[in-house]
Amino acid sequence: MSTRFMTTAEIREAFLRYFESQGHTRVASSSLVPANDPTLLFTNAGMNQFKDCFLGLEKRNYVRATTSQKVVRAGGKHNDLDNVGYTARHHTFFEMLGNFSFGDYFKRDALKFAWEFLTAEQWLGLPKDKLYATVYHTDDEAFDIWNKEIGLPADRIIRIGDNKGEKYASDNFWTMGDTGPCGPCSEIFFDHGDHIWGGLPGTPEEDGDRFIEIWNNVFMQFNRTADGVMHPLPAPSVDTGMGLERISAVLQHVNSNYDIDLFQHLLKSAAEIIGVEMSQAEAQAQNKAVEYPASLKVVADHARSCCFLIADGVNPSNEGRGYVLRRIIRRAVRHGNKMGATGTFFYKMLQPLIEVMGEAYPELAERRQVIETALIREEELFAKTLEQGLKLLEGELANLKGTIIPGEIVFKLYDTYGFPVDLTADIARERELEIDEAGFEVEMAAQRQRARDAGKFAVDYNSIVKVDGETRFDGYGTTQGQGQIVAIYKDGEQVNEVLEGDEALIVLNQTPFYAESGGQIGDTGLFQNDTGIFEVQDTKKSGGAFVHQGIVTMGSLKATQNVEAIVKADLREATARNHSATHLLHAALRQVLGEHVQQKGSLVASDILRFDFANDQPVTFEQIQQVERIVNREVIANTAVSTELLDIEAAKQKGAMMLFGEKYGDEVRVLSMGSVIDDKNFSIELCGGIHVNRTGDIGLFKITSEGGVAAGVRRIEAVTGTKALDIVQKTDADIQSINTLLKAQKDQTLEKVEATVDTAQQLQKQIEQLNQKLASFQAADLVSQVQNIHGRPTLITTVQNQDAKSLRHLHDSVKSKLENAVIVLAGVENDKISLIASVAKDFTGSIKAGDIIKHLAAELGGKGGGKPDLAQGGAPFNEKSDQVMAGLTAWLEQQ
Ligand code: ALA
Repeated sequence: MSTRFMTTAEIREAFLRYFESQGHTRVASSSLVPANDPTLLFTNAGMNQFKDCFLGLEKRNYVRATTSQKVVRAGGKHNDLDNVGYTARHHTFFEMLGNFSFGDYFKRDALKFAWEFLTAEQWLGLPKDKLYATVYHTDDEAFDIWNKEIGLPADRIIRIGDNKGEKYASDNFWTMGDTGPCGPCSEIFFDHGDHIWGGLPGTPEEDGDRFIEIWNNVFMQFNRTADGVMHPLPAPSVDTGMGLERISAVLQHVNSNYDIDLFQHLLKSAAEIIGVEMSQAEAQAQNKAVEYPASLKVVADHARSCCFLIADGVNPSNEGRGYVLRRIIRRAVRHGNKMGATGTFFYKMLQPLIEVMGEAYPELAERRQVIETALIREEELFAKTLEQGLKLLEGELANLKGTIIPGEIVFKLYDTYGFPVDLTADIARERELEIDEAGFEVEMAAQRQRARDAGKFAVDYNSIVKVDGETRFDGYGTTQGQGQIVAIYKDGEQVNEVLEGDEALIVLNQTPFYAESGGQIGDTGLFQNDTGIFEVQDTKKSGGAFVHQGIVTMGSLKATQNVEAIVKADLREATARNHSATHLLHAALRQVLGEHVQQKGSLVASDILRFDFANDQPVTFEQIQQVERIVNREVIANTAVSTELLDIEAAKQKGAMMLFGEKYGDEVRVLSMGSVIDDKNFSIELCGGIHVNRTGDIGLFKITSEGGVAAGVRRIEAVTGTKALDIVQKTDADIQSINTLLKAQKDQTLEKVEATVDTAQQLQKQIEQLNQKLASFQAADLVSQVQNIHGRPTLITTVQNQDAKSLRHLHDSVKSKLENAVIVLAGVENDKISLIASVAKDFTGSIKAGDIIKHLAAELGGKGGGKPDLAQGGAPFNEKSDQVMAGLTAWLEQQ
């Protein structure tokens, strides 16, 4: 074992420095929310941000890069969530150190770099005899480099074949997801020593903790498309990944990741926050890390993924990424509760996390408030759902026939109320009941399938379209232009020609069609030339290519032909109006609500704009009106909209609003619009979209709705131009119709409506009074139906057209005439039956109103209950109700 000790921070820095010294550019970690990649749930590897570089779709000014990347592996293809806490090295969040070559060096240098960094004295200085390597079974080249060039003995190089059930499904063949760049890999293992159980890769004991994979070197060679075909990449490349926590365990002479410095701090803090007593002294005396219970490990691990995910803009919700985050938070809270935590506690983990990771990841401290607020809210929500879940469970238990709680109910509690299964099982046990575990598993399997389906997201065009080079977009200033057909695809295949009626994807070398991006939808229109017409229904991007999707409406089109490309100009103009209005709306919201307003999503179409943004409260009516006034004021000012290309630093200097977590190139397009105050335009944003020339082009701006889409996220929809006029005119027309109905003059509407509502309320009151009078007449009538059951004067009757409230009135009138009696009334109205029963004090010893109602409710398939002297209930209308009420006499006779 190496005697060197290095902290996590030192190792991270050493890695990046080593690769810098080998000509690599140090690149910042990308967001956990992958930019522009619909196939990925979360960033799950260092290579994600370079996907297009591997595919040859994007060129950067470097061909070697190194990163320390934030990674979340929960949900999606690489999912470790359920293992976390119970193994020595599974995490929902971890840092992946990586070096990358984009068509530059390949296997030889990759392995030599790795070996030098791991073993050279001035770097990590690991003992060579502790290291092993695996290679893909047919990869003789990698084998020989390890053996002949690096000098690793042949018996320490292990060939691993397709060990996961199909071709290329292997521990030594790495794929990012179902599609995308992939290739064979060589993993490096470290031997933690024979005092620990475990075997070499490929042996039955490989899952033990002795031989641990520390570094994966992937030789990127293919792009796998959705049909499973492996297309060679433009140039062989390299992608490597070393888990920082694992290599830290090696250099800190511990076997579990949870024993490294960073985790010991988080675990110690978790114990303090939750209030668990841990004996530090004993561990220190033995010079060992403290062994913390699994639940604390879960809290420490999950705090990292949750805080980083929220920092990167994910919010707990019921779908997609937000749902996975919600599950992680709830898992952490539950484990905290298990250890005795009370009240909200999980959010307190942010502080110790900032202490150990804040320097490398400043976003944690910068977004402290957002993270804490989101965590507290989710903890509170979870506490509430637990409470509701308990109520539901009580209800179900009351109606339970037999001793087994059905799997469906256990699942419903778990899924809808986030109610932990073990808690349901605990409660069941206390009451000598069991839970139907098999039934629960069936429901879970179905849910996992749903989650998998959700995790797949959309198949991207990348799986069909393979084009070298980029389409030049020349549509900023025009809606018409010439282009040459570069490629045509039909039914997922590249073809040379398409004929009338064919649906196809067509790529041009240059186009005036805007491809969907930044929330703005793709353009529609047509291509035409001497041989045919193609109607373009949508335009999307695939890497650098613009893909026009549509149908041949006349003749035919062939690859390499030139076409005249004509965008539907009116729709394009309407879209531009909405896009510029979105920028003005964003700036106005920040003025009215505050700087915390951040874009969370946007849709810019020709008929509507939709803007999602971070804000805790609903926006009030007055605020909406204020925002509308501000935007329209900017419209009326009719200032020119300006566009400039700047480098990213200059754009920052200028004060351009950047979207958190967005990926920007070195040169950015900066859109400025609106009045100038203190040398700054009203709105400055980075944007590649299409905009109006002057703000006045927008016409009227009108907000049409405001609502919530997820916790802490609001959505505003608005319209512009003639659409806005349509909305205003529609409102006018509605008021006109109301005036006609109310016989009101213009401007009298409100007054007349108020008067009408007033009258309706008075009439309602009168109806109630009349009903009461009627009830007392009816009551007199009913008293004559009293019978004697066991010496108790008893009235049982069903009355028509009575809801719960009027039945109660009727009951009270009867009771005032029949003091010492048992009264049971059923009221039928529409599809409902209301029930009420009362028992005079003298008789509650032998019969209770609550029992009568429970009996009736059970017979009628409804609900109800109450006290011994008075109880109420209800049921859906039931054919048997007359029979049930008639049977009540017999039932009461037995009581
Ligand atoms: N992308 C490779 C992995 O995640 C290095 O293992």
